[in-house]
Amino acid sequence: MSDAYLAALATRRTHHAITNASSIPDEKLEVIIKQAVIHTPTAFNTQSGRAVLVTGAANTKLWNLISESALKGLEGEAKEIAIAKLTAFGGGYGSVMFFEDQAVIDEIAAKIPKYASHYSVWSTNSAGMLHIAVWTAFALEGLGASLQHSGAYSDELMRNIHKTFDLPSTWISTAIMPFGIPAGVPAAKTFLPIEDRVKTCSD
Ligand SMILES: Cc1cc2nc3c(=O)[nH]c(=O)nc-3n(C[C@H](O)[C@H](O)[C@H](O)COP(=O)(O)O)c2cc1C
Repeated sequence: MSDAYLAALATRRTHHAITNASSIPDEKLEVIIKQAVIHTPTAFNTQSGRAVLVTGAANTKLWNLISESALKGLEGEAKEIAIAKLTAFGGGYGSVMFFEDQAVIDEIAAKIPKYASHYSVWSTNSAGMLHIAVWTAFALEGLGASLQHSGAYSDELMRNIHKTFDLPSTWISTAIMPFGIPAGVPAAKTFLPIEDRVKTCSD
């Protein structure tokens, strides 16, 4: 029964080259994101995950903001490489912005203080689960996506993103996922010997 799920996990790859087309309508994109947000587990069921689907002119606006921030201070070849990457991401069909709501995390930390030092790690763990849920579902629909942190942590950029998209200031960015129909094949990937990474202990 798990074969289909494991095959889906293997299908998901990082696609940097994407087109500005989608294989599914926006309504289906929304369904995928909502289902992933609903069913991704969170510590103590705090439901701290948040997501924003951005398409069309809004996606151009988002990547213009990211580019402005990410290109600051870059010169020469480094700048050329960054421009090429950012142009490719911004030229996709859309992006999913992922957040964790700090207000929810602060609330549980106040309610159950004995784990106070763990909540931010658990929140990050849950964010990663949400990322892969959406990423894998997109892959199954024939969409290529990647996980980007280019400037996702700059305070000034985040202030601009919150203002532009009218988001609560407590929503902390965990990643931005540009997506579209793949424009090429993903880079070759190598794997470490699995025997060195997974052990079975039975007695
Ligand atoms: C937590 C995390 C952060 C990542 N950040 C970035 C990123 O900022 N930019 C990027 O292009 N890829 C990023 N990646 C993608 C990885 O480089 C990629 O998943 C890895 O090389 C394996 O390739 P695959 O996704 O095709 O399986 C990130 C992946 C993870 C899990």
